[in-house]
Amino acid sequence: MIRVAVIGGGQSCEHEVSLASAASVAAALDRTSYDVVRLTIDPHGTWLDSGNRPIGLAGAAHVLRSCEVVLPVVHGPRGEDGTLAALCELAGLPYVGSGVGAGAIAMDKWVTKLVAEAVGLATAPGVVLTAATAPTYAWSHPVVVKPVAAGSSHGVTLVDRPELLDQALDAALALDHRVLVEDVMTGREVDIAVLARPDGSRLVSPALEIVAEGLFDHDTKYGGHADFRVPASLTDAEAKGIEDAAVAVFDALGCRGVARVDFFLTAAGPVLNEVNTMPGFTAESQVPKMYAAGGLSYPDLLDLLVRDALAAPAPCG
Ligand SMILES: Nc1ncnc2c1ncn2[C@@H]1O[C@H](COP(=O)(O)OP(=O)(O)O)[C@@H](O)[C@H]1O
Ligand SMILES: [Mg+2]
Repeated sequence: MIRVAVIGGGQSCEHEVSLASAASVAAALDRTSYDVVRLTIDPHGTWLDSGNRPIGLAGAAHVLRSCEVVLPVVHGPRGEDGTLAALCELAGLPYVGSGVGAGAIAMDKWVTKLVAEAVGLATAPGVVLTAATAPTYAWSHPVVVKPVAAGSSHGVTLVDRPELLDQALDAALALDHRVLVEDVMTGREVDIAVLARPDGSRLVSPALEIVAEGLFDHDTKYGGHADFRVPASLTDAEAKGIEDAAVAVFDALGCRGVARVDFFLTAAGPVLNEVNTMPGFTAESQVPKMYAAGGLSYPDLLDLLVRDALAAPAPCG
């Protein structure tokens, strides 16, 4: 029996999404192999035990120390951004997923673009604004405004008329002190997952296409209207272009565990949108669906991630 801690919740706007991911992960871990211990971080940052009783960080550390491995399923800032990886590193516990550096960089959509461009990937041209510089921005063409670090489409707005700009900037600045203003990419939205094995090999999933009207916004993501096509219908050249680009940015960021790499497939080729180092992880989420399409079931995917984390305890950095 492997005692595994599954952490969910968190203080970001993706709290509810993480609760769903963590509940689904905990339910799917095979009980003949795993003794599952649940920990939840409430929206105020209070740690709760498996009975949802407040135990504080010290209590959580005590529980974590009784476990052999940690599966942090917290999306967004103060979770996916390296903070939970840091806690596990300091506690000396193996954990599933990216380390501190990769988590922090991938959480930052601006820095991710810089890294991606440095290894030859295309990204949407854009600028970073703050509350101080936002008033100087002169709208000249349709753009997407979004927080540098958020998720689940919170604070993301398509601004196709100048009068929508101020409200869009305010919505994004309410979630982050930096916002990205990007050119609108036209093309299919195609996502793919990359999983790092301890021997250095990469297990790349079949790609998935999201078919949505307009932006893949929060309501479409979680209102049950998202239309996933998996495997995505791609030519061999398109599939290879996306696979190679996904592995290149995964490796450049130094990701571990599994990450979902999201692209716009434009007429000019794949354009990287973002990298999620702790993507949605319910049985119906994209990453489990993508691997399932490749023949790796949801429980087997979780088993692989946990066993790999145990086989290759995370190095620092
Ligand atoms: N530059 C862009 N051009 C066109 N659509 C975009 C652009 N940026 C974001 N979107 C749309 O908004 C959605 C959410 O934006 P994204 O950057 O993925 O934020 P989140 O981290 O919240 O998922 C994307 O799935 C896509 O549909
Ligand atoms: Mg996204």
